[in-house]
Amino acid sequence: MNSANTAESIASGAHSINATEPSDSKIPATSQPPLLQVTQLVRHYPLPRTHLCQTPQQVQALQGVDLRVESGRSLGIVGESGSGKSTLARLVMALDTPTAGTVHLLGRDLHRLPAAELRHARRDFQMVFQDPYGSLDPHQKVERIVTEPLQAQGRTSRAEQREQAAQVLAQVGLRSTDLGKYPHEFSGGQRQRIAIARALITHPRLIVADEPVSALDVSVQAQVLNLMLDLQQQFGITYLLISHDLAVVNHLCDEVVVLYQGRIVERGTPEELLFNAQHPYTRALVSAVPRIEPGRARALRAEMAQGAGEALRPMV
Ligand SMILES: Nc1ncnc2c1ncn2[C@@H]1O[C@H](COP(=O)(O)OP(=O)(O)OP(=O)(O)O)[C@@H](O)[C@H]1O
Ligand SMILES: [Mg+2]
Repeated sequence: MNSANTAESIASGAHSINATEPSDSKIPATSQPPLLQVTQLVRHYPLPRTHLCQTPQQVQALQGVDLRVESGRSLGIVGESGSGKSTLARLVMALDTPTAGTVHLLGRDLHRLPAAELRHARRDFQMVFQDPYGSLDPHQKVERIVTEPLQAQGRTSRAEQREQAAQVLAQVGLRSTDLGKYPHEFSGGQRQRIAIARALITHPRLIVADEPVSALDVSVQAQVLNLMLDLQQQFGITYLLISHDLAVVNHLCDEVVVLYQGRIVERGTPEELLFNAQHPYTRALVSAVPRIEPGRARALRAEMAQGAGEALRPMV
């Protein structure tokens, strides 16, 4: 397979999905500190010893990662399985502690904040997980699930929480009557909308999305990505989008970094990576994307363009 052809097909396909072009809000504010700054981030995990005399071994999941993301922009992280993408996401979300290095969000060093300040700061950064089936508690109603971040903050009344939940459900194209339902009553795409609503409810500045559409059908993927773009336009959200799929990051991201064995081996715009990849691993990643047959590609683009228009309509 020719990787240049593949790149062309991905790039042209993504552009015809009706992806919203970058708005003025995406222009970096040069005088402001970056929204997210990751400096020399390292995470080693100890491996269990198989016998007592063995020297302790460790997995070097991240080996000195630097990132800078301006407010209102989207950074894609791509890499093979085990390259450290989710480790990076957990450290940025302060769900895990780095071995070395720092994560600054809005100028605050997240891993050095006292617990109470970190809990309060959490309203500024939320996460959307890969699996819309596993990430929503099947025993809780949607109202409880979506208001969970507000409950953790502990500052709003039940009535206010309910009102805000109805608002964010409308923003993701669901109905306020859905608040009384359970996750099993929804499709995969609708569940991911519920997960996005839960992330939105604290008005975050940053959303970290770890493979948010890889469990969904391709037409539903486009709907969810278009919804994320639309929300970015409305609220100026910054995304850190993790994906193994270059077509997905091309749809949503201004810049992409390629992780390989815990290090960034390449960074650039999606087009630069698709058409002019320098690192052998990035080239392998580009050529690994399956080439879509022209007829099927047209049908998919039509579906995706329709998905864009329907992104905010209630789903039945
Ligand atoms: N809690 C942990 N304890 C020990 N090793 C871990 C832990 N979490 C991650 N690792 C190891 O760190 C490396 C990076 O894992 P990570 O989950 O970040 O990869 P990934 O890029 O997200 O992979 P995938 O695409 O499969 O989700 C892997 O070798 C993994 O086995
Ligand atoms: Mg992962």
